Amino acid sequence: MTRHFLRDDDLSQAEQSAILDLAIDLKKDRFGTRPLAGPQTVAVIFDKSSTRTRVSFAVGIADLGGVPLIISTANSQLGGKETAADTARVLERQVAAIVWRTYGQAGLEEMAAGTTVPVVNALSDDFHPCQLLADLLTIREHRGALAGLTVTFLGDGASNMAQSYLLAGATAGMHVRVASPADYAPMDAVVADADARAATTGGSITLYTDPLEAVAGADVVVTDTWVSMGKEEEKAQRLTTLSPYQVNADLLALAKPDALFLHCLPADRGFEVTAEVLDGPQSVIWDEAENRLHAQKALLVWLLQQA
Ligand code: CP
Ligand code: NVA
Repeated sequence: MTRHFLRDDDLSQAEQSAILDLAIDLKKDRFGTRPLAGPQTVAVIFDKSSTRTRVSFAVGIADLGGVPLIISTANSQLGGKETAADTARVLERQVAAIVWRTYGQAGLEEMAAGTTVPVVNALSDDFHPCQLLADLLTIREHRGALAGLTVTFLGDGASNMAQSYLLAGATAGMHVRVASPADYAPMDAVVADADARAATTGGSITLYTDPLEAVAGADVVVTDTWVSMGKEEEKAQRLTTLSPYQVNADLLALAKPDALFLHCLPADRGFEVTAEVLDGPQSVIWDEAENRLHAQKALLVWLLQQA
């Protein structure tokens, strides 16, 4: 049966772990697996801007022996004259998989329901599951096993990154803390799903409004931009309301002494994180950015094996 990756909990704990194992293997032997040789094509569609996702999918698909077809929605019929379901039916006759960065999660669900090839969420307003595979791979490389670690996300709790940390962290058996102002708390339905998943993996979910309490003793500290794509009109309000959640040296000092700092990038130094932390010794952001490549290659290989 065709498997899709629209949100982090589309994978079980065992499946997530198997993909991370494969990513570690592919990182050691970058050109050793070429399931897309032929070559087959993978469509990678962008409704929003991107550097890391665009490059890592393009390079990764080429590494696997395939051809990346990068589509900008502005120059296609999708989002204007044609539905996601009809677009999917056209693409599935010609490509091995569809990767899509978009706004609403519903579009991805429509795309996936209408096609026989795997659909991958390359970031939506609600989730950024490919980024989380890279983040978990990075944490695993630096800390070993994921289960039992405490990870604290600070800032916009309703953002795609925070919500993906809830689902992916719970799936990995981690203790996930999200600290945000009440107006920027994660969606109730996502928290409920993360709670349910955590109950099966030994993980836990805790929401905070106090950033100091949330970061105390954490193994991993994470933040993301306060102004996600699509939220630009709210910028002034967001910079004010989210300012107490800045990750700076004083806040990071409350976590474990060797706590890792992650940020999916792009970052706004001086806002959600200080330059001192982002560019400091606990930051693993460049490993994290590179790991997009290895994690997504593993994801594609795994998805194509299920089809
Ligand atoms: N982290 C991330 O997804 O970056 P891009 O927006 O550059 O793809
Ligand atoms: N939360 C950010 C992530 C960027 C990769 C955004 O959606 O803009």
